[in-house]
Amino acid sequence: MHLPLLGMGTWGMGGKYERDENNVTESIELLSYGFDMGFRLVDVAEIYGEGLTETILGKAMKGRKREDIFVISKVWKEHLRYDEVLRAAEGSLKRLNTPYIDLYLVHWPNPEIPLKETMSAMETLIEKGFVKEIGVSNFTVPLMEEASSYLSHAKLFANEIEYNLAVRDAEREVILFCKKQGINVIAYRPLAKGSLLSGQNAILQSLSSKYKKTPAQVALNWIIGKGASAIPKAGSREHLKENIGVLGWHLSTEDVSLLDASRF
Ligand SMILES: NC(=O)c1ccc[n+]([C@@H]2O[C@H](COP(=O)([O-])OP(=O)(O)OC[C@H]3O[C@@H](n4cnc5c(N)ncnc54)[C@H](OP(=O)(O)O)[C@@H]3O)[C@@H](O)[C@H]2O)c1
Repeated sequence: MHLPLLGMGTWGMGGKYERDENNVTESIELLSYGFDMGFRLVDVAEIYGEGLTETILGKAMKGRKREDIFVISKVWKEHLRYDEVLRAAEGSLKRLNTPYIDLYLVHWPNPEIPLKETMSAMETLIEKGFVKEIGVSNFTVPLMEEASSYLSHAKLFANEIEYNLAVRDAEREVILFCKKQGINVIAYRPLAKGSLLSGQNAILQSLSSKYKKTPAQVALNWIIGKGASAIPKAGSREHLKENIGVLGWHLSTEDVSLLDASRF
């Protein structure tokens, strides 16, 4: 499946770095609601909630056509030895209760473990049919080049990076490189964890009135207009509804330039 431009983040559902059972039912319902309303992309990782987030997603996907959903999961940086990568992926598949993951990412680089070993395991996962595509997250250009050099059949499909109106370091090198190499960019923290919206930014407010969209929709539309996918995490049905309203329209070139030139 083509990588959708908009998806659902899941950080905090079932816990953050530690398992937390408190919001399990509500999180399953929220993700199900998101799928019902048309979200097709969802981002998890084995580290989220110590695996509970993947279990939650597995329950939300139950009974749905698997091909309609694009699942991203990630192997944690402490599990990058060959055998550990295979074991981590098998654990994720079990918790997600699915035969395959659409895109499997190396969550963070780890200089202690040879990248060659990790990438070789990532390719094995494709051969076994456990994952459709492989990629990286939080990788610099030299690290992406190094990772690519160890791949014999596959190609890096994506780099998931922090990118939003307030955090734009990736524009200097990473995004340009990805564009040139045909590597998808996935923007995490696309709303800067909500901080973009807390300060009543004047430009976001004025574009919000002009387009009759909310400031969150303007901020997310700016990202997808650049060809990157965005995976905001919504904690309510209202926010999910608002976020899907980011599709089907675009900011004018002049307004994109205005946002580009602004400080957030
Ligand atoms: N690869 C990596 O290393 C990495 C790192 C960080 C995150 N991620 C992924 O990226 C996802 C998104 O990042 P994030 O969760 O850190 O930050 P985020 O999506 O930028 O921000 C989440 C915050 O935005 C608020 N929000 C969402 N939709 C909104 C709307 N329409 N209007 C107003 N506020 C809205 C949420 O509030 P409510 O809860 O009230 O809706 C929440 O407080 C994560 O969930 C995770 O899947 C990946």
